[in-house]
Amino acid sequence: MPGTVVVGTQWGDEGKGKVTDLLAQDMQCVVRYQGGHNAGHTLVVKGESFKLQLIPSGVLYPHITPIIGNGVVVDPKVLLAEVDMLTSRGVDCSNLRVSANAHLILPYHQMLDVVFERHLGKNKLGTTKRGIGPAYADKAARVGLRVQDLFDESIFRAKLEVVLHEKNPLFAKVYNKLGYEIDDLVATYIGEYAPRVEPHVADTVDLVHEALESGGNVLFEGAQATFLDLDHGTYPFVTSSNPTAGGACTGAGVGPRHIDRVIGVAKAYTTRVGAGPYPTELFDEVGDHLVNTGHEFGTNTGRRRRTGWVDAVMLRHAVRVNSLSEIALTKLDVLDALDSVKVCVGYDVDGDRVDKLPYHQSDFHRAKPIYEEYAGWKTDLTECNSRESLPAAALAYLEGLERAIGVPISLVGVGPGRRQIIHLSSAA
Ligand code: GDP
Ligand code: IMO
Ligand code: MG
Repeated sequence: MPGTVVVGTQWGDEGKGKVTDLLAQDMQCVVRYQGGHNAGHTLVVKGESFKLQLIPSGVLYPHITPIIGNGVVVDPKVLLAEVDMLTSRGVDCSNLRVSANAHLILPYHQMLDVVFERHLGKNKLGTTKRGIGPAYADKAARVGLRVQDLFDESIFRAKLEVVLHEKNPLFAKVYNKLGYEIDDLVATYIGEYAPRVEPHVADTVDLVHEALESGGNVLFEGAQATFLDLDHGTYPFVTSSNPTAGGACTGAGVGPRHIDRVIGVAKAYTTRVGAGPYPTELFDEVGDHLVNTGHEFGTNTGRRRRTGWVDAVMLRHAVRVNSLSEIALTKLDVLDALDSVKVCVGYDVDGDRVDKLPYHQSDFHRAKPIYEEYAGWKTDLTECNSRESLPAAALAYLEGLERAIGVPISLVGVGPGRRQIIHLSSAA
């Protein structure tokens, strides 16, 4: 299986990091293909927790080449801090490779993210304020700076002149903020960051193809998720990149023929940080229970996540837009204490039953979930390690969910630890 994509199927934080870490043992490279340090991927190994924002989740294995692909937006300060954090904890990052074509997040991107959210007021998107949207906007407008520009001061200066010519007056006149000085940015980015980033910079497209051509396995680790995708998500309440499986092709430089396994990671319920429609959202004590039992506070920003029942209509849509071959279902253990658990199988939109994701977003905002209800299992699942060890009620729920989604559930998470995962079907 040369190319495997791990993709979020909901609104993020499904456990992509954990699933990537699990599969990485059989991989040669693990590639991040989009997003930036808006991601927060948690790995728990032998009781030790690692929270990664930019560095691919395969980094804990010495045999892996972790790659930050061309589709990622890189804040060098965050990248270097993450390398330092891992190094201080005994993880060797010398293999880390960063695409020369990846775009840079500069301080004005982050400031724009902050002031624009403030300007939106009660209509804000609830971004992570990391500068992700403004950096991708500059990339699309062809005024972005790339990692390779860190190594040519004259190009770096010339590009900044173009971009600050427009941004500095915007800060001064619209947002009443100080602008940015080219000399300051040169001193920090070229003086401080460039020498430390340089050893990691590579032709990452070549690295991925060398691995594939030599028969190695490559895992493409999605950040964010299907319903945060710029094209397929709940626009405008989305991120500014393409987390969906197709993004792995553009963001890493491979064609679709190299990808033969696409694993959609889903929680056994749903969560969302930030604003936007959410048909199955819970505002009752079950919602609070999911927050508290599932520790649903952002890995990255610490914000309380919104919680709700699992939504099979969304998951069926995720199967299609990602060509999912299977689902890795995480956090089943979080439902252990509930008397009953629900699966949304359709929506009521103004009195009509709808089984597909409404293509008109206003309908999605008004959609009322139609549920199938399953008996709870009232058993601690965290020690379960096989299909046979699962209680009948949990299996009935998994089988019902699988039917509603239409692809196999191959892996089931029963705790945060690396080993707390059950291989359910032969697809895994
Ligand atoms: P990601 O962004 O998709 O990588 O997910 P996050 O790391 O942001 O959030 C997932 C959280 O759930 C992390 O704290 C994981 O350690 C934790 N987690 C992952 N799988 C399971 C599971 O099966 N059970 C429980 N209880 N926690 C899990
Ligand atoms: P991982 O990879 C959950 C959300 C933000 C906001 C929207 C846009 O850990 O699953 P952005 O800063 O990207 O412009 O914010 O997207 N968001 C995430 N939510 N998990 C993430 O990453 C997210 N990355 C961005 O909360 O609603
Ligand atoms: Mg996360």
